[in-house]
Amino acid sequence: MHNILVTGGAGFIGCNFVRHLLHTHPSYRVVVYDKLTYAGRLENLQDVAEAFPHRYAFVQGDICDREKVEETVRGHDIDTIVNFAAESHVDRSILDPDAFIRTDVYGTYVLLETARKFGNLRYHQISTDEVYGHIEGEHRSKETDPLRPRSPYAASKASADHLVHAYHITYELPVTITRGANNIGPYQYPEKVVPLFVTNALNDMPLPVYGDGRQMRDYQYVVDHCQGIDLVLHRGQIGEVYNIGTGQEMTNLEMVEILLDELGKPRSLIQHVEDRLGHDRRYSMDVSKIQALGWQPTHTPEQAIRRTVRWYVENRWWWEPIRAGKFQEYYRQVYGSRRILREP
Ligand code: NAD
Ligand code: TYD
Repeated sequence: MHNILVTGGAGFIGCNFVRHLLHTHPSYRVVVYDKLTYAGRLENLQDVAEAFPHRYAFVQGDICDREKVEETVRGHDIDTIVNFAAESHVDRSILDPDAFIRTDVYGTYVLLETARKFGNLRYHQISTDEVYGHIEGEHRSKETDPLRPRSPYAASKASADHLVHAYHITYELPVTITRGANNIGPYQYPEKVVPLFVTNALNDMPLPVYGDGRQMRDYQYVVDHCQGIDLVLHRGQIGEVYNIGTGQEMTNLEMVEILLDELGKPRSLIQHVEDRLGHDRRYSMDVSKIQALGWQPTHTPEQAIRRTVRWYVENRWWWEPIRAGKFQEYYRQVYGSRRILREP
């Protein structure tokens, strides 16, 4: 493994993964291939471009553009593809699923076809716990559980997982899949709940908690997730799926309380608002399979939240221009006419 194509590498998890790869594997060359949608930003990779001018390259392109993907793979002698590229936000998928089907499903197909055409390149797919759908009672999703996605986003990601598996069975493509729990940390676009709430709170704006706020999520630190992906890429069994998360869930209200506590801001900023359509109440994964491979998270969800809050406090240069731009239109669309709940 030497020349790695990281699609979606200018996004949140992708840029953290690229940083991790270049620092950890001194012989690797990394080519980021990214369309630079609203979520992809070259600032996310500025330090990497400066620190590794000979081992890092950037190509702007769409994963649905087969010719451009092939030209990049050929031109950079790529031997491994790691696919982070996706439309990634559930609320946007509820407003308009179109781009989700194109990028997450068709785009994955284009990458798989390219991997096959160039002699069965090593292929790794970044997936999510959302493909398992809402999890009842005490159950924790295992990798072998059926996929029951319930949002357009989750359905597009589940479709991609099925395609990746099919390419392994049909064409013996050497694939692996990781399904990550909610990631938090540096460079996450402020539409996702933790950066949205931190930046709202820093501006003394209300924190729009959907419904009763008792939904459960496993908030993991993005760098822990990246280490897990690296491990599966190198030591995972071909054809297998691995869940990655801390295995500890908390309610959204608990997450908000830790966040406000770290900021020293009052609980009165919490505002319960009309719930998300089809909101999955609980995700919970069994992570024993990746633990058996030798991975452990180095942050609890609480440590991950506190560390993330501090990054946003210290890096206003990154998020203030985002919030001042097109983001405002999105915010009005999702939150502008949302009903405020007096009794959640
Ligand atoms: P993100 O939205 O921050 O970044 C997505 C990146 O993909 C952006 O750089 C964007 O420009 C790029 N992109 C979008 N469409 C593209 C296209 N057609 N062609 C090329 N590039 C395109 O997302 P993220 O949070 O970093 O998530 C990365 C991956 O991890 C996604 O596949 C997502 O489903 C998965 N995932 C995310 C989480 C999470 O909590 N954020 C958890 C588990 C899995
Ligand atoms: P999000 O970060 O969108 O991730 P996902 O839906 O993919 O898990 O949301 C995390 C949780 O926070 C989820 O239960 C929805 C909730 N949430 C709010 O309560 N208010 C918000 O404004 C947002 C964006 C999310």
